[in-house]
Amino acid sequence: MLASGTGSLTKALIDAERSGELQAHLVAVGADREAPVLDIAAAAGVPTFLVFPADFTSRDGWNQALAQAVAAFDPGLVVSAGFMRILGAPYLDRLGRITINTHPAMLPAFPGAHAVRDALAAGISQTGCTVHRVTADMDAGPILAQTPVPVRPGDTEEILHERIKRVERTQLVAVVNRIAAGEIVLN
Ligand code: GRF
Repeated sequence: MLASGTGSLTKALIDAERSGELQAHLVAVGADREAPVLDIAAAAGVPTFLVFPADFTSRDGWNQALAQAVAAFDPGLVVSAGFMRILGAPYLDRLGRITINTHPAMLPAFPGAHAVRDALAAGISQTGCTVHRVTADMDAGPILAQTPVPVRPGDTEEILHERIKRVERTQLVAVVNRIAAGEIVLN
């Protein structure tokens, strides 16, 4: 798991594993900064690791170190959920094939770090969330799952994002389980 934020999606996977709903075992949570998600992981007894960009003189150096830190856990799958860094070639060459990301919009609509704000500003009545394979082109890898989410009058970015996250959590567990079952093959 790679995350940088509040960690509600990470917590959803932790809870799903505990309840037996998740057909996978979360082996670690990694971040690029101190973030609440690390406290959630630690509280659940999940190992955590930090790879600070400021410790490296180049993006490639950081990507390389991140790949090494992730590979040390020998994961079968890497889930990025709210990880606010672009994964570059040194990481992708080694782990891109097994890395998926969840995005709070119906890609290819509204890529980037402000997807919810952009969807709200577009005045549309429906947005959604996407799980996709991570590739060199941000938010543009092969789509594995998408679920629409309604936009309601009076929605703020926060209200809409929380409504989307609720759907993301369910969708993410389902995608991980389909990968575990071999129904989705990452190639
Ligand atoms: C999710 O909406 C994800 O799609 C986006 O960042 C959010 C992470 O939420 N990239 P949380 O930190 O897991 O609560």
